[in-house]
Formats: sequence, C-alpha cells, structure tokens
Amino acid sequence: MNDASQIMTGNPPQAAGLPQLSVVIPTFNERDNVITLFRRLEQTLAGIPFEAVFVDDNSPDGTWQVLRALSREDGRVRCIRRIGRRGLSGACIEGILASSAPCAAVIDADLQHDETQLPKMLALLQSGEFDLVVGSRYIEGGSAESFNSQRAGASALATEVAKRALRVQIADPMSGFFMIRRERFEELAPQLSTQGFKILLDVVATAHGTLRTKEIPYSFGSRLHGESKLDSMVALDFLGLVLAKLTHDVVSLRFLLFAMVGSLGVLVHFIALYAGLKIIRFPFAEAQAFGALCAMTSNFILNNFLTYRDQRLKGFAILRGLLLFYVVCSVGLLANVGVAFSVYNQQPIWWLAGAAGALMGVVWNYAMSGLFVWRK
Ligand code: GDD
Ligand code: MN
Repeated sequence: MNDASQIMTGNPPQAAGLPQLSVVIPTFNERDNVITLFRRLEQTLAGIPFEAVFVDDNSPDGTWQVLRALSREDGRVRCIRRIGRRGLSGACIEGILASSAPCAAVIDADLQHDETQLPKMLALLQSGEFDLVVGSRYIEGGSAESFNSQRAGASALATEVAKRALRVQIADPMSGFFMIRRERFEELAPQLSTQGFKILLDVVATAHGTLRTKEIPYSFGSRLHGESKLDSMVALDFLGLVLAKLTHDVVSLRFLLFAMVGSLGVLVHFIALYAGLKIIRFPFAEAQAFGALCAMTSNFILNNFLTYRDQRLKGFAILRGLLLFYVVCSVGLLANVGVAFSVYNQQPIWWLAGAAGALMGVVWNYAMSGLFVWRK
C-alpha cells in the first residue's frame, strides 16, 4: 500500500509506519558531526518511526553533501539546502514546516543536546497533556557546565530579560532543544521571526501562555567537532526579538537597525561636508553632494554588515546593491523634501516638517531597500 492510499483509507500513522516524530536539525559547517548524530538518533529512537530533516544553509564545508549521501542510504533522512539565507531560527521554522509527523523536535547537530531524552519528550507529548516539551538546563537535574563564565553570564542575563519583559514562565526559554505538537507550531509560524537564534523564546512569547508546557532537565554537553556560530551579533538579534514582541511586531529589529544606521549617516554626512569644505575646498554644492555620497556609502556598508547580515551581499552583488541603494536613497530624499515641504506649507513649524520628512525618508528607504537591494 502506498502513502496516498493510506491517507485515503485513513490508517493512523502508527499502524502504517509513517513517522510519529520529525527531528529537525539546523546545520552550518557540521560535516563531521551529522553522521554521528544520526547514528545516535537511530539508536535512541529504535522502534519509533521517525524522520530526520536537516536544514543546511549551504555550508562551505559541504555538510549538505554528506547529508545528501546519507539520505540516499536511509529514506528517513532529508536535507533541505538553503542558498542565500542564513539563520538558525529561519532554518528551524522551515524544517518543521517541511516535516510531516504530528510531533516535531529541534536539536542541534553538534551533539551538545542530549538526544536520549527524545523518547521521553515524545511520550509526554503523546500523553496528550502537553503541547511543548523543553529540554532545560536551568531546572533541577539540568546543567550547562560546558559554558565559560562569560557565556554563562550572558545566558543568565538574557533569560532574566526574557522572563521579565515578555512574561515568559519557563526556566530556560533560550534552550535550543525542544519538541512541539506540529499543529500548534503551524498556528504560530506566521508570526515567528526568521532572524536570530531564539526560536523557542519566540514560540513561547508568541503563544502568550497558551502552550501547555513541560520542562525536563538535561545537561548541555560539549561540542563534538567544529565551533559555535553564536557571535556577539546574536545579542542584537535577541534584543530585536524582545522589542518586536513587546511592540506586537510593530517595530522590527531590522527597521530599528536601519534607522540607527541612518542616524549615523547624518553624522557621516556632516563630517564629510565639513571635510569637503575645509580640507578639499569644494564649493558648497559639491561639498554637500560629497557628504551625501559618503553617507549613503557608509549606510550601505553598515546595513550590509548589520541590518541585513543574514542576507549579506557578497562579491559582484555588492556593487549592484550599492548602485541600487544610491537610487533608492536619492528618491527617498525627494520624498523626504516633498513631505516636509507640504507639512511646512500647512503648518510652518520647522522641526515638525523636518521630522515628518525624515520619517518619510527612512520608511521609504527601508521599504525600497528591502524590495530592491536586499531582496530575498
Ligand atoms: N541552518 C543553519 N543556519 N544552522 C545554523 C546556523 C545558521 O545560520 N547557525 C547555527 N546553526 C546550527 C549549528 O550548526 C548547530 O547545529 C546549531 O545550529 C546550534 O548552533 P551552535 O553554533 O552550536 O550554537 P551554540 O551551541 O552556541 O548554542 C546552542 O545552544 C544554546 C543552548 O541550548 C543553540 O541551540 C542556542 O540557540 C541555544 O541557546
Ligand atoms: Mn552548539
């Protein structure tokens, strides 16, 4: 009997041997870990029909090639290879949405999470009592001894901020190890952020306490091979997530970073204008144009490094992006002046008109940059 006829006759997945559990594994440069992880999953999940969905962001070390070979050996393995995108949260979301079992787990590829907890987590979900089971380092029996003191401090601080600001109740909302009922996840998915690392925090904060949650302890181990991809920028992503959730998704981190870079651009503009006038001795109009060009260029570079770091333009695409950014910002300047002028005509308050113009400019530049310069 094939899958389609099983669906038509309504056989329960268990009877048909269809996966009861989808294990989603985000990977970036994990070629030396993935086979070991899969062998361990196989062992610990013996007797439970499962599928393993790896989501690889086109790892330079060729992780996806190893996974492709593994999936030809074992039909339970699939590899989604994403090109031109980076990000742990986005990879997990895509993996869960592409999987098929009623329960989905997320686990790191580097063997720092304790995969032997999976059967217990599955049993808890299948009992019908819970929607979410979290592997927790911060309840009795759990630990994160492999953390250095700096990382431990950062983790504790972020956990505290998340708990207070977002009223998240669980002990370890920063955990990257959890299992969730797929139907509940699909309800939340449209509101989840694809940027950053904190998928579980996002899930819990977005659900506003509606997920029946159980935490089970585990010890966060050491990496088998390779290195962590968590860098200081992750702190920015975290703050952005907290902010987005606090403002009910009105203010996104991307917009905030974009506006911040823009404000810095004003400073760059004045410095360059001053230098143009006093050092290069340009006439005013040329010096002003020089200032604008410097500001746009530095804005572009900073946005490419910070605001759109998950979609960073590389190689030849940088030049094309820069030229498009000049065009977008030039039109944005016209919109800025136009709006300021019409506000000023109605109410001659210079700062109000100026602020309205600036707001128009930044919203325009942001919207158009997203469409044309760093388009997905
Ligand atoms: N597809 C994809 N894209 N995968 C990624 C990316 C990415 O941009 N960045 C990291 N990963 C994968 C790694 O390959 C690994 O399998 C997993 O995500 C975790 O990344 P690490 O770089 O090992 O993170 P960590 O060990 O420092 O932090 C982990 O554990 C913490 C505590 O549980 C993460 O799971 C954190 O979210 C978690 O807070
Ligand atoms: Mn890790």
